[in-house]
Amino acid sequence: MNESIKKLHFGQGQGADKRPAEILGHFANRHGLITGATGTGKTVTLQVLAENFSELGVPVFITDIKGDVAGLSQAGKQKEFLDNRAKELNIQNYRYEGSPTIFWDIFKKFGHPVRTTIQEIGPMYLSRLLELSDVQEGVIAVAFKYAEENSMALLDLKDLKSLLQFMGENHKEISTNYGRITNASIGAIQRRLLNLESQSADELFGEPALALADLMRQDMSGKGIVSIMESRDLMMKPQLYASFLLWLMTELFETLPEVGDLPLPKLVLFFDEAHLIFEDSPKEVLKRIEQVARLIRSKGVGVYFCTQSPGDIPEDILGQLGNKVQHALRAYTPKDKKVIRAVADSFRPNPEFNTADVITELGVGEALVSTLEEKGAPSVVERVKIAPPRCRMGPATDAERKLVMSRSPVGEKYDQDLDRESAHEKLLQRKKDLAEQKAKEQARLEAEAEAAEAAKPKRRPGRPRDSFATKLGKSIQRRLTTKAINAIWKTLFGRRR
Ligand SMILES: Nc1ncnc2c1ncn2[C@@H]1O[C@H](COP(=O)(O)OP(=O)(O)OP(=O)(O)O)[C@@H](O)[C@H]1O
Ligand SMILES: [Mg+2]
Repeated sequence: MNESIKKLHFGQGQGADKRPAEILGHFANRHGLITGATGTGKTVTLQVLAENFSELGVPVFITDIKGDVAGLSQAGKQKEFLDNRAKELNIQNYRYEGSPTIFWDIFKKFGHPVRTTIQEIGPMYLSRLLELSDVQEGVIAVAFKYAEENSMALLDLKDLKSLLQFMGENHKEISTNYGRITNASIGAIQRRLLNLESQSADELFGEPALALADLMRQDMSGKGIVSIMESRDLMMKPQLYASFLLWLMTELFETLPEVGDLPLPKLVLFFDEAHLIFEDSPKEVLKRIEQVARLIRSKGVGVYFCTQSPGDIPEDILGQLGNKVQHALRAYTPKDKKVIRAVADSFRPNPEFNTADVITELGVGEALVSTLEEKGAPSVVERVKIAPPRCRMGPATDAERKLVMSRSPVGEKYDQDLDRESAHEKLLQRKKDLAEQKAKEQARLEAEAEAAEAAKPKRRPGRPRDSFATKLGKSIQRRLTTKAINAIWKTLFGRRR
């Protein structure tokens, strides 16, 4: 084997040759899967992989569903059984240390805020996220176009809501210029937005938007920074979790250049409790995640899903996950047994053991492993003991987290909310201007009418009003009003009615 190949060493095979369990650096972008019943060692495996990627200089992004991933930021406590395990598994240079970490949190409590803008999500993904019909998608497209042509930034949900309301109030005029939109479809979109809002999506949308470069940092010593995203609350809001994932993957895909298989990936994403993403996501979102997963690897990004059973992952995505760590599964019910058979069949058999039998026998921190070999084919399944982590197995305390955050290179940039002038403010201003303009025009017309009245010869008292002149005055006034309204529409929609 070529010695210059970078490898991520994460355990040792239990076969006669005691082969090291490794992910080849240039195939780490071929994605991965970590599965197993509860308490079998998935999160620790996640930590071991993450800290070894970091050690190799690869930045890592990882969702923390239970708070126990955060231990990655702290050195583990020295314990004899860990030292012994490291020795037994031939882990070189084993030591207790944390990885350089940035904490993130959409809800701003346990990390620096993670935000993106409506504009960045774009009309297409927004429509998918909201599961809009073709007609409704057309309305969203008009909203984005109108905002662009009128230099109105769409940053947060407030902007989009104000714009939709404005479009509803002026739907006839907007339809003339941008294609037909109806109040019914606007109403339907507004209802969908309320739904998203009930999952606190307003927290995700806004500025300053997260720059991808901040997820792809190294520290001064060249280690990849581990970005840990607090997800305890996020887990209760699957639509938001999926929105975030979709945005992140799409943004990476659209921003990063095509690079093929690099010696090491540029970034690795870990999604713990991945079943949450797939259980409730709209079909269109799933399809998009599948597509992006397929394409993102040539941009040098690896995606690793962590969940209890491979059955939690849609087939099309499952087929793309090249590096697999299967911890123990329990075989209580006939359904469990069926799953185990399917999982066993998905591995290349090892003549030394029966895969299905071993899946149920594996101890904590033990797993069946298959990674991509040098030619890109999956290796024969191996029974592996996973290395002990160098970091803490368990959460970080609030004080530790605060300390990490206070030293973070990104705090200054993200901690302060920004609310620059955007569509919402501009539309408010526009409404105010219009009202003022209308009032002024009205006043001018009234003054003109009064002046005309004053210029007329005085009538003798008691004589009836000159009904013809009044009619004429009214008709002029009507014409003037129409003119004024047309002028207002011109400023509003750029075109004449
Ligand atoms: N590689 C390992 N080295 C040493 N101890 C380990 C290892 N893996 C797991 N353990 C032990 O097993 C415990 C449970 O592991 P872990 O929290 O990773 O399980 P899990 O599969 O993520 O569980 P859950 O489904 O409940 O999240 C750890 O706290 C640790 O004590
Ligand atoms: Mg876990």
